[in-house]
Amino acid sequence: MLQKTTLGRGGPAVSRAGLGLMGMSGIYGPADDAESIATIHAAVDAGITLLDTGDFYGMGHNELLLRDALRRGIPRESVFIQVKFGGLRDPSGAFIGHDTSPAAAKNSLAYTLTRLGTEYVDLYQPARLDPRVPIEETVGAIADMIKAGYVRYLGLSEMGAETIRRAHAVHPVSALQIEYSLMSRGIEAKILPTVRELGISVTAYGILSRGLLSSGTARLADGDPRARFPRFRGENHARNLELLADLETVADGRGVTAAQLAIAWVASRGEDIIPLIGTKRRDRLAEALAALDLPLSQDELAVIEASVPASAVAGDRYEPAQVAALDSER
Ligand SMILES: NC(=O)c1ccc[n+]([C@@H]2O[C@H](COP(=O)([O-])OP(=O)(O)OC[C@H]3O[C@@H](n4cnc5c(N)ncnc54)[C@H](OP(=O)(O)O)[C@@H]3O)[C@@H](O)[C@H]2O)c1
Repeated sequence: MLQKTTLGRGGPAVSRAGLGLMGMSGIYGPADDAESIATIHAAVDAGITLLDTGDFYGMGHNELLLRDALRRGIPRESVFIQVKFGGLRDPSGAFIGHDTSPAAAKNSLAYTLTRLGTEYVDLYQPARLDPRVPIEETVGAIADMIKAGYVRYLGLSEMGAETIRRAHAVHPVSALQIEYSLMSRGIEAKILPTVRELGISVTAYGILSRGLLSSGTARLADGDPRARFPRFRGENHARNLELLADLETVADGRGVTAAQLAIAWVASRGEDIIPLIGTKRRDRLAEALAALDLPLSQDELAVIEASVPASAVAGDRYEPAQVAALDSER
């Protein structure tokens, strides 16, 4: 069974890796609900307790899928469900902004609890900083919901050091969700030292740089948002695939896959870094779980880092307008 760690200093025990459910709602190409539910069950059977979702993943579909998985034999108290809110979409699925005002936070939570069929969520987190709403107001509303018993812990997502400090001053933050991988190491300069000082864990997403650090991104389905991300476009994509080829060479020498080395590298960063495994398939879940037990020496870690130097990665992780709006990139 998977080892446990604590989420935030003195916080609740969770598995040392989590499962991210986003791809199960068709965000990265078509998903099969039966296989997605089987993947959630396989993860829980393997000892994963931390399940990550968002109300805007498939506009409620992701939470309804999780409800179905829970109803098929997963006791509510055996899992730690974390939910992102605030992302706004129109009926076509297009993102149309954010709303993390206190009223929106409470309203979104009410719908989330109904869709999940649960009495509480374990951790509630604004997906992005809403430029119109001071973080203190958003956190104050979540703190109200914690007092009322609808939420257990507070999280943040893609926020910068100053915002994290302001939020933590209102109510203790248990975890920051943010992109972190061999290809995305921006948090190491300011954000990681800040959360470590404050005793906040990181739930790391994009640990495969959304599939770039595996062999799965040669053909993207129509409507896959990755086709718009600079890293996946034209010349940049070709250069990044060269980095992947270098990682594959290292992986071949070790008898594992490039994805496994990328996951093992994130897992090696510290007990307070909890990798979110992003898959909708049982075979890839098994591959990722095996990576968590891969012993890597300091020399091997250095070779892995040298094969994918962050400075050699071509293109930003999001589109320019999205990067400009990210509090974590300021
Ligand atoms: N807070 C935020 O802003 C934010 C943003 C994005 C994601 N997230 C959360 O983080 C979770 C993980 O993010 P992510 O999905 O972008 O992470 P990721 O692990 O970097 O990328 C997942 C992609 O890699 C593919 N993949 C996984 N294992 C593979 C393997 N062994 N070989 C080939 N391809 C493989 C997946 O396809 P298959 O599913 O087909 O295996 C999927 O397309 C999400 O589910 C979500 O919960 C949070």
